[in-house]
Amino acid sequence: MIRLGVNIDHVATIRQARGGREPDPVWAAVLSELGGADGITVHLREDRRHIQERDLRILRETVRTRLNLEISLAPEIVAIALDVRPDQVTFVPEHRQEVTTEGGLDLLSHRDRIAEAVSRCHEAGIEVSLFLDPDPAQVETAAAVGAIAVELHTGRYADAINASSRQSELDALFDAGRRIQQDGLLLHAGHGLTLQNVAAVARIPGMLELNIGHSIVSRAVFVGFERAVAEMKQAILDALTQPNPVR
Ligand code: PXP
Repeated sequence: MIRLGVNIDHVATIRQARGGREPDPVWAAVLSELGGADGITVHLREDRRHIQERDLRILRETVRTRLNLEISLAPEIVAIALDVRPDQVTFVPEHRQEVTTEGGLDLLSHRDRIAEAVSRCHEAGIEVSLFLDPDPAQVETAAAVGAIAVELHTGRYADAINASSRQSELDALFDAGRRIQQDGLLLHAGHGLTLQNVAAVARIPGMLELNIGHSIVSRAVFVGFERAVAEMKQAILDALTQPNPVR
């Protein structure tokens, strides 16, 4: 069974475009769950460009599945996470100018800060996942900082411009996935996943959770939220009923 975590940040992006109250990401969370989501993911950014603290606090009360909060290491944001207590925190890097999360955390440069933040979350009963590129040096450090899961950044795979680079990015994801599980950690993945490219990632052995936002919200504009989520869920289930391609 793979959990589908639906990232609803972009519903808040549309709301913030007018600075009003619509559309409400809380409604999107409800519809996602009705469509079969196994979790709701939001990123409370330091610049509050989409999700607001109000959203997070209401979601904590209303989400019936799992609430996964993506955050940076900024002390103010970590303090909010410790107060709200989502089921899971995913630490991500954050840069002011980026359009979306570019690249994974640099565990090698920020090892001590990350280890400290991870332990504070665990003390508060929050599971911690680290968003990492599928690079051996990063992945090998994850267990040492105390996380229970790693979310592999699938952006390079999703953006690959031809079959051979897509295959080598997929190989990197498989290798990183194997190492993560050998070290006793849980395996998650996300970024840039769509109905067209999700199957190969879903078939990585041991995959537990996929976090998908942009493609679901984009499709929801045309077919509705519940259906867009249900279609993605079905694509993941279908991938699991097909055998692994020979590698
Ligand atoms: N996982 C993480 C850690 C992310 O930062 C994002 C983007 O906010 C996603 C998954 C979802 O990526 P996408 O919106 O491309 O599906």
